[in-house]
Amino acid sequence: MKLYEPMTIRDVTLPNRIVMSPMCMYSCEKQDGIVTDWHRTHYTSRAVGGVGLIILEASAVTPQGRISAQDLGIWSDEQIDGLRDLVRLIHQQGVKAGIQIAHAGRKAEVEGPIAAPSAIPFPGSRTPEEMTREQIADTVRAFADAAVRARDAGFDVIEIHGAHGYLINEFLSPLSNHRQDDYGGDKQKRYRFLQDIIHAVRKVWEGPLFVRISADEYDPEGNHVQDYAFYASLMKEQGVDLIDCSSGGLVPAPIEVFPGYQVPLADSIKNTALIATGAVGLITSGKQAEDILERGQADLIFIGRELLRDPYWPRTAARELGIEPAAPKQYGRAW
Ligand code: FNR
Repeated sequence: MKLYEPMTIRDVTLPNRIVMSPMCMYSCEKQDGIVTDWHRTHYTSRAVGGVGLIILEASAVTPQGRISAQDLGIWSDEQIDGLRDLVRLIHQQGVKAGIQIAHAGRKAEVEGPIAAPSAIPFPGSRTPEEMTREQIADTVRAFADAAVRARDAGFDVIEIHGAHGYLINEFLSPLSNHRQDDYGGDKQKRYRFLQDIIHAVRKVWEGPLFVRISADEYDPEGNHVQDYAFYASLMKEQGVDLIDCSSGGLVPAPIEVFPGYQVPLADSIKNTALIATGAVGLITSGKQAEDILERGQADLIFIGRELLRDPYWPRTAARELGIEPAAPKQYGRAW
């Protein structure tokens, strides 16, 4: 069964193809971005549950880049100890640990000014300030500094959050980026911000690097999967290892959701840009996950909400596929 085969990316071997998708817990009670007991319990449960890789929720690279004041952060050295402890707990279960580094851009809901490529609000939200060249350079540096902290905390994988209408997505899309300088205009110029971030991160991070994208913005004037296949080929040239294919969130849009609705996006990016992909979105059964891998539509299966419902999903799915799931040794024959 492919779902339970290891996968090696650079020097990291994931024990299986099941990834816990990044999911914000909004659980930093002191608004300091520091790991709490909730995070320790929540992530360790999924590690005991047997996923191959856990990608921690969107962790802000600057305080103004938080979605909410309760977000996890990676903008300060004071946040490293808590993250290191989480990595230790995840590693104890033989599971690899990743972190999603993020900036919410115009979708930030914290106090104070919010920043975006252009002064165009997300419908119904505050109008952001157009970022200066200096702010762009500072934000690129903040992503690289976050990567250094992730390295110091012992993470195996870094995922850059380029999806869901947050800052990087805002630069990529013609709907939210009307800049006249070399960070806006045609597709190549709109890529420049992400290009700078990947370049800066790659200077300090040699490990597996993933980027999450919204491979369809669900607007006739926005980016579509062909545009993202182009971006994915640029990312591949820059040393990105895997594209995690989500969709939507840049503008409000009705999205038809059904089991595996985003799998064709992962398939298209994988087979057009010839880069490894992750599939995510309403994947809930072992059979469904195995089929995606067997058909060559994606390399990793990201599971979100089903892992909230069932932390032992990797074992539930194994049983469904007729395999005897391995158990933590402490559970022995009772499993
Ligand atoms: C999410 N999602 C998400 N995505 C992301 O890239 N970064 C994040 O921090 C979050 N936060 C988040 C919180 C919660 C509570 C949910 C339910 C979702 C999206 C998530 O990773 C996943 O892509 C979607 O939930 C679709 O997959 P499932 O849930 O259908 O398996």
